[in-house]
Amino acid sequence: MDVQIENSIYEKACEAADYIRSLYVEEIEIGLSLGTGSSSIVDSIENPVRVAYSDIPHFPYTAVKSHKNELVIGKLGSKNVLCLAGRMHYYEGWSMEKITFPMRVMQQLGVKQVIMSNAAGGTNPHYSAGDIVIVKDHINLLPEHPLRGKNDDRLGIRFPDMKKAYDKGLRNIAKEVASSLSLNLSEGVYVGLQGPSLETPAEYKFLNIIGGDLVGMSTVPDVIVAKHCEIPVLVFSIVTNECFPIENITETTVDEVIAVANKSAKVLSKLVEAIVEKL
Ligand code: HPA
Repeated sequence: MDVQIENSIYEKACEAADYIRSLYVEEIEIGLSLGTGSSSIVDSIENPVRVAYSDIPHFPYTAVKSHKNELVIGKLGSKNVLCLAGRMHYYEGWSMEKITFPMRVMQQLGVKQVIMSNAAGGTNPHYSAGDIVIVKDHINLLPEHPLRGKNDDRLGIRFPDMKKAYDKGLRNIAKEVASSLSLNLSEGVYVGLQGPSLETPAEYKFLNIIGGDLVGMSTVPDVIVAKHCEIPVLVFSIVTNECFPIENITETTVDEVIAVANKSAKVLSKLVEAIVEKL
């Protein structure tokens, strides 16, 4: 069977990037994809150009509460940044191609580095709700892979190496900046699951046993595609609920997840702004 690259991702990403360039001509250096509770950083972007996802060719959108559906482009300190205020999730029914499309567009725009954040359950017993953790690695338990199918060499190589998926240089900068703000951040392994249900106690225990510190329903496909695009990434998780030991688990609603993430969002925004200035 000949597997077709249906109206290629490359061409679609170029079309979307051309549209964005028609609205913002300066070079965009840094991409920000900040998840639940963290989009307050857009308030710090000067002279923002706001682009609705629905106006960008081929761009998906999200129906998730607490996520907006717009790109905000402008100056954060001295850098031109593009902030994705709203993230698409696999559990919403989008294909892997769609949820990782914004990364492909950033590749075509020539974005040099991407900073992401997410809300996550904490399966490391030392974590508390509200903690900000730097992601140093992941375990991919999603049912589908974003690079499955015929490889388009214009986008990246067939078999990207994942040893350095979470850029060490960026993590070191993050730690330095954090300590200058009197924050002591630990590093953890993020496990990506499909969702949308949260995990059972037995599943949280399993995730701890296999080496997971954090669990969530996003980020992993983006990081794989970023590696394919050769864009270095820095990822933060906000621990929104304690999941291990299992005696500590309490029932968790999305409103609680959002409330905890919102509480840490100010600190995370400050941290991200200071990191962007250092890059
Ligand atoms: N599981 C999966 N995703 C999550 C969780 C969780 O416990 N908390 C926040 N996002």
